[in-house]
Amino acid sequence: MLDWSSFLLKRKHLDEISWEDFHQLPLTEKANYFVQNNGRPYHVLIAQQFERESLDKLCDLATRIRRIAKSKAGMDFLSLLLKHKRAMLDFTQPSSRTFLSFYAACQILGIRPAEVRNSSTSSEMKGESRMDTMRTFSSYFDLLIMRTPEQNLAEKTAWMLSNTERPVPIINAGSGKDQHPTQALLDVYTLQRSFERRGGIEGKHIVFCGDLARGRTVRSLAKLLTHYPNVRITFAAPGALQIGTDILAQLDSAGLPYELTADFKSTIPEADAIYMTRIQDEWDTEGDTPAKFNLEEYSFSADDLKRLPQQAVIMHPLPRRTEIDPACDNDPRAVYWRQMRNGMWIRSALIATIFVRDNEITNYYMMNIK
Ligand code: NCD
Repeated sequence: MLDWSSFLLKRKHLDEISWEDFHQLPLTEKANYFVQNNGRPYHVLIAQQFERESLDKLCDLATRIRRIAKSKAGMDFLSLLLKHKRAMLDFTQPSSRTFLSFYAACQILGIRPAEVRNSSTSSEMKGESRMDTMRTFSSYFDLLIMRTPEQNLAEKTAWMLSNTERPVPIINAGSGKDQHPTQALLDVYTLQRSFERRGGIEGKHIVFCGDLARGRTVRSLAKLLTHYPNVRITFAAPGALQIGTDILAQLDSAGLPYELTADFKSTIPEADAIYMTRIQDEWDTEGDTPAKFNLEEYSFSADDLKRLPQQAVIMHPLPRRTEIDPACDNDPRAVYWRQMRNGMWIRSALIATIFVRDNEITNYYMMNIK
């Protein structure tokens, strides 16, 4: 059975701290405020709230759900688990995969999802504050999943609701340039599945390439990789788009070795996983655009397949532009389509855990599948 009680030790209460004090806390301390009274995650807001043990539990549960979902009887079982719950997907930034995989995860578990994808259709256009809008959602729904261009809005919503009669769980589905914790979960799940027969993620060399300064997926995933012994990371990016020093400080304190380089192509023969990213130019502003660089040098071409080790994998959070030549798509090492589908399973596992249905799923799995 999945026992989460060891996570209870440091649990703190969001309604007992002011927003100003909470906001200033280091991320590892903030994490203590997102734990529920049985040790499971309640809010899912930052990658720093996950430990190795919680990652393993979520990946195991995702695999059980994936296997249960193969049969009609299994799907019927899953779809009754949270039939009494409703979720609000509030996505004020563009999204295809994250939105749809959360939507599908809700459907798998029987949760009825609703959506706002464009705040121009909401009362915010009449001048309503974001916090009032979120409080409105909380009065109709049991779970809020939000993607926002603002860095701290999901956290602020969780804090604000903790002082109301409906402090529903909040999941961060991407916050500005900062965090994308559930993408990091699906990336870990994908790495784990890819390296299943090679001793897991431990000891692997992960290369991140592209816009690492503004790519929130890399920022969250780099943190999760600190939980796997002997991993090393290479960050390959043009100078202005190199990974933030805040992330490097977290890797330093975890003792994870890393290298920074502008020469992506030279890293290919040495990689176990290559994680490509899109240039996040939606953040370019007049007067603040990165210096010109040759995008081809930060792209993976069909030719590069020849220099990629036989057992390595190519990942991408998607959407891609030209960072990966579509000619690579049918190579067995290209796992980005599978990675996308993994998002549906790990998000199902996460939501089932938040609502404490994980043990029922494990029971069903033990009795019917294993
Ligand atoms: C990413 C995002 O939105 O941060 N996409 C995703 O969620 N799969 C990456 C990107 O937009 O480049």
